[in-house]
Amino acid sequence: MRALASGDAWCRDWSDHGLPFFFLPPGPPVTAAGADPKSSRTARPAIPRPGRTIALVGLMGVGKSTVGRRLAHRVDLPFVDGDEAIETAARMTVSEIFARLGEAEFRAGEARVMRRLLEAPPVVLATGGGAVLNADTRALMKTRATTVWLRADLKIVAARVQRRDTRPLLRGKDPLQALTAMAEVRYPLYETADVIVDVGAGAHGQAVEAILAALTDYWTREMDT
Ligand code: S3P
Repeated sequence: MRALASGDAWCRDWSDHGLPFFFLPPGPPVTAAGADPKSSRTARPAIPRPGRTIALVGLMGVGKSTVGRRLAHRVDLPFVDGDEAIETAARMTVSEIFARLGEAEFRAGEARVMRRLLEAPPVVLATGGGAVLNADTRALMKTRATTVWLRADLKIVAARVQRRDTRPLLRGKDPLQALTAMAEVRYPLYETADVIVDVGAGAHGQAVEAILAALTDYWTREMDT
């Protein structure tokens, strides 16, 4: 995760452009051969992006962090993982916060961290699956971010989350049942996202391309209105 500071060149770039929020200068120059002269990575054409955060929402296990990292690279924005930011702020893992302080304290801390991140300059932000439960966070996301719901089949998500034991809300439960119960409460909230992308069982790269296409479409429509 890249730390942001007000003196950071990237922050200065952002505030000094004086451009409307839409099309900030694109990423590094691309040569005719498609190679980024400053890096050995294969460069692709820069994606015009808005001057606000892209917030990924959706159930745990849909791939918000992995997809978010790749998306950030494509739109040339820093990536921030909401859970990691909470862990840094609390100096405890998410599991420890749940075990020592309980879910209510976790949610209060999560809302504070979300506010700080959403009020900061634009990033790609992978939110924790339950961040949308907080009304203030939802309101901030509406005004400060373009929100993307990563939607996936619950059976696929249940199979994925079984691989790791880092999610306190699933501990000792049948993952599909627990996720189904969460979906009932959260889907109406996720549904209010600006953009909805079905991520399914495909490769993360495919998900990134689908998100970029949906975002470009959304931003273009938004600009036309
Ligand atoms: C939670 C999701 C987790 C984490 C915490 C609670 C939730 O984040 O914030 O375990 O309520 O859905 P991920 O969605 O990144 O797994």
